[in-house]
Amino acid sequence: MNLDGSAQDPEKGEYSFVCVGREDDIKKSERMTAVVHDREVVIFYHRGEYHAMDIRCYHSGGPLHLGDIEDFDGRPCIVCPWHKYKITLATGEGLYQSINPKDPSAKPKWCSKGIKQRIHTVTVDDGNIYVTLSNEPFKCDSDFYATGDFKVIKSSS
Ligand code: FES
Repeated sequence: MNLDGSAQDPEKGEYSFVCVGREDDIKKSERMTAVVHDREVVIFYHRGEYHAMDIRCYHSGGPLHLGDIEDFDGRPCIVCPWHKYKITLATGEGLYQSINPKDPSAKPKWCSKGIKQRIHTVTVDDGNIYVTLSNEPFKCDSDFYATGDFKVIKSSS
């Protein structure tokens, strides 16, 4: 098991998993933050499931670890505390409500903007929580605030 925080495997293009804490602790607090391979993430424990995502909101970098979790259209979402954007915990999709302007009496419908927040993988082993960063090649809006000058935690090296 490699817990030394080493960087992405250049041959496989995969990140090694990193231990971020104990299962008992996150079950009490229902969320925790961690730095995984120099990237800040938040891990939520919600209704018996774990979800990890970039900590800074894709919209303007708001602190998602300080948001509330609410259901929208039957989907648990983190609500960003800055401008109230809704992001699904499971997939990182941005949700919004739309109405048909030609039928203003119609009930607003929940729609997806697509995946906006990068989701990472959480695994539990022997009471420890591990996060593996996503290496999905698509460009995700939250990458902007997770890398480069906007990254909050600077590398100590
Ligand atoms: Fe999150 Fe604006 S920064 S909604």
